[in-house]
Amino acid sequence: MVAIGVTRQGQWVYLRDGEAFLEAGHPEVAPEMGPSCFLLPDPDKKGVWVNGGGTMFLVEIDAVFPVLHGPYGEDGTLQGLLELSGIPYVGAPVLASAVCMDKYTTKRILASHGVPHVPAIPVERYAWRTKREEVLANLLERVSYPLFAKPSGSGSSLGVTKVKSPDALAGALDEAFLYDTRALVEPAMEGCLEVECSVLGNEEPVASIAGQILPRREFYDYEAKYLEDTTELAIPARLDPEMMEMVRELAVQAFLVTGCKGMARVDFFVDLKARKAYVNELNTIPGFTRVSMYPKMWEASGLSFPELVKRLVDLALERQTQSWREVYRRT
Ligand SMILES: Nc1ncnc2c1ncn2[C@@H]1O[C@H](COP(=O)(O)OP(=O)(O)O)[C@@H](O)[C@H]1O
Ligand SMILES: [Mg+2]
Repeated sequence: MVAIGVTRQGQWVYLRDGEAFLEAGHPEVAPEMGPSCFLLPDPDKKGVWVNGGGTMFLVEIDAVFPVLHGPYGEDGTLQGLLELSGIPYVGAPVLASAVCMDKYTTKRILASHGVPHVPAIPVERYAWRTKREEVLANLLERVSYPLFAKPSGSGSSLGVTKVKSPDALAGALDEAFLYDTRALVEPAMEGCLEVECSVLGNEEPVASIAGQILPRREFYDYEAKYLEDTTELAIPARLDPEMMEMVRELAVQAFLVTGCKGMARVDFFVDLKARKAYVNELNTIPGFTRVSMYPKMWEASGLSFPELVKRLVDLALERQTQSWREVYRRT
């Protein structure tokens, strides 16, 4: 196994010993850690080119397992580069990656297929900058509290704020616009459970048992996700069998209508009283450490971590045979 590290500036570093790097617990990647490397749009040479001090050499690669979050990793850009290079990769293809990165686009697709989701009002940064007072006045007329303001793209809860009164709305939007050019204003899903479900497969995806997040904080913010250890996870989620089935079916539907392949974690708010589940978002590269929800929900469903990784690589190889280039070659 070969690991390619990405520095904060976005340079790729060839880390000869991928296992050792992962065992070291994800240290920050620095250029001195290895030679630089890159992909070329040459599908006949399936691999990564490494700069070996004046001479380039090719390290062949069977499949790539992207383990990056957010823009330039999860949003279809990396996936596009891999398509051009003809290298199979785990997870969502270009379009589904881009769609799921943008929560507003995701909602519009879910809406057009009748999949229940959290409604949102979009706000564009350009409008916010050029006619802030008008945009704000319009929003203040339409919303009620508490609400959530968040970037449409991004992730890890960055730029997400719970807004409890009108005077806090503008500041929350300023914060959201630090992370994307589009922000969303959503009703807070009060009294709901936060439930997640892992989906796996290509054309006939299956859903795991759903799990539940029980943050000790006001909501599942950046601190709760990465800095604190107080968030309780419940697998299976505390749902009756009927609601559990509803969540699993909706997870598969959301996966299919957004064009996901391989894997995605579909996140929900579940209203037990109203017996409704609403999709919040899809994560096409969910957290993938041994303690992350995606693999843990599979483990609870009878699929071990090594089996899951193998299945994902097999799905990536299987999907390669459906790629535009392969299909075109055969016609
Ligand atoms: N409409 C909402 N109602 C209630 N809680 C929300 C809402 N939107 C976001 N949250 C809380 O904020 C967290 C992060 O928001 P989310 O939309 O999942 O963005 P991210 O992509 O950053 O994970 C959620 O896990 C949840 O705890
Ligand atoms: Mg989330």
